[in-house]
Amino acid sequence: MEEGHKEPLVLRVEGSHCSLSEMDDFDLTRALEKPRQLKIERKRSFDERSMSELSTGYVRQDSILEMAHSPGSRSMVDTPLSVRNSFEPHPMVAEAWEALRRSMVFFRGQPVGTIAAYDHASEEVLNYDQVFVRDFVPSALAFLMNGEPDIVKNFLLKTLQLQGWEKRVDRFKLGEGVMPASFKVLHDPVRKTDTIIADFGESAIGRVAPVDSGFWWIILLRAYTKSTGDLTLSETPECQRGMRLILSLCLSEGFDTFPTLLCADGCSMVDRRMGVYGYPIEIQALFFMALRCALSMLKPDEEGRDFIERIVKRLHALSFHMRSYFWLDFQQLNDIYRYKTEEYSHTAVNKFNVMPDSIPDWVFDFMPLRGGYFVGNVSPARMDFRWFSLGNCVSILSSLATPDQSMAIMDLLEHRWEELVGEMPLKICYPCIESHEWRIVTGCDPKNTRWSYHNGGSWPVLLWTLTAACIKTGRPQIARRAIDLIESRLHRDCWPEYYDGKQGRYVGKQARKCQTWSIAGYLVAKMMLEDPSHIGMISLEEDKQMQPVIKRSASWTC
Ligand code: GLC
Repeated sequence: MEEGHKEPLVLRVEGSHCSLSEMDDFDLTRALEKPRQLKIERKRSFDERSMSELSTGYVRQDSILEMAHSPGSRSMVDTPLSVRNSFEPHPMVAEAWEALRRSMVFFRGQPVGTIAAYDHASEEVLNYDQVFVRDFVPSALAFLMNGEPDIVKNFLLKTLQLQGWEKRVDRFKLGEGVMPASFKVLHDPVRKTDTIIADFGESAIGRVAPVDSGFWWIILLRAYTKSTGDLTLSETPECQRGMRLILSLCLSEGFDTFPTLLCADGCSMVDRRMGVYGYPIEIQALFFMALRCALSMLKPDEEGRDFIERIVKRLHALSFHMRSYFWLDFQQLNDIYRYKTEEYSHTAVNKFNVMPDSIPDWVFDFMPLRGGYFVGNVSPARMDFRWFSLGNCVSILSSLATPDQSMAIMDLLEHRWEELVGEMPLKICYPCIESHEWRIVTGCDPKNTRWSYHNGGSWPVLLWTLTAACIKTGRPQIARRAIDLIESRLHRDCWPEYYDGKQGRYVGKQARKCQTWSIAGYLVAKMMLEDPSHIGMISLEEDKQMQPVIKRSASWTC
């Protein structure tokens, strides 16, 4: 899709940053154009190769797809049953599609989204009967992968319209570009009319700002364009303007000393007070991804050109900052442990004045010799060492993580499988906070007690991001193992929103049943494993100037 823009962008943007304009995945685009009949063969060869080559090392996306197009000759003798049988659709797949379709929301006869949870048994509906922007993403991907783009297009246009509303919290007017956290369609059966109400944070519990909504909107617009090849939507003046408005909110100049985006509490999937404020990894990764997606779709016209330049500069600074200061591995941990403090001037090694005494005990045991991750947050004298799954997976998908860092994130996941995956994929963060820290950080939140909900709970929706990251790094066997876990319980437990406990063994205390993104996340994971070329919708290749290093890793082989 982006081919149309690619060349002009290279010329218009500063020469030294040419590579950024090339970062979209050409090979994936080509693969997506292949006729759909190839699906079965593609899948077979991918599975076969994955048993040997894919499991032993880093494989670039294009080589995965090349493999996928050349039927493998390897015998299936030593192939585990689970793989051999993977041609048989799991019975849960049909159930999931049925449940996903039940969750569809219509506006004047047109599907415009999916409801957050279809849980009639729950006494308290709260806002789970609304279409959440972030929750709709896996639904949208499932529909796109299934060749049903209309609902996604309608959703993008409907939310774009809502962006145009005047938004207020009490007497305070919100920024023009703010996208809603959620919306609801009200049907009047008597008058036979449909109306929409939307929430931009002014009704949300705690009045939290949905910073992630605008980023997801841009990411979804690219996914739609990539999957359908329909350029006409992203090129409309309305969509171009919508993107620019979102970008204006996060590219404006202020007092910042860092290229990361400063956020208040509860601005993303973790929409309650959980110490996730300042520069949280989830928002930084989504910000980076949205910038790259916007860059591939913005027209270099009079209004777009300035944004393109600002994006290129910001991406440059943001990737440097994140890769240098948010990255933690054994070596880096050891360096921080030995940091001097109170250093002044440009020569400071400990730039943020992190106090080694603030390193929590758990992280010393947790950190394997091989492996690493982006920490939760970095700001002056504050490093949140917690591991957050969504931010790390999106870092892989957007290529915010270098190829080495991506491999290290997957290595860590394998090494710490018990802690991060346990019995139900996937922990939203690790570890939980408890006792005094829980009181101070959460403000005594009874929903976020230890190993529950946002505080170390396990969220099935995260399976799709994990699966996508596994495919991108050439380690599908990790995703397969996670999917096996999900398939053993999710349907039986009625698609809960989250699980509780250190191992994620118990259905969450206040978890909704029939949670749509748990259902859609499973479907997306299944479809991506079946046809890895789908990943092109939601993944961006490494900047071509930074050639990935091909490395071996001792990943699981089954
Ligand atoms: C909860 C989650 C949030 C989600 C919403 C609807 O508030 O924290 O991430 O969007 O439920 O499912």
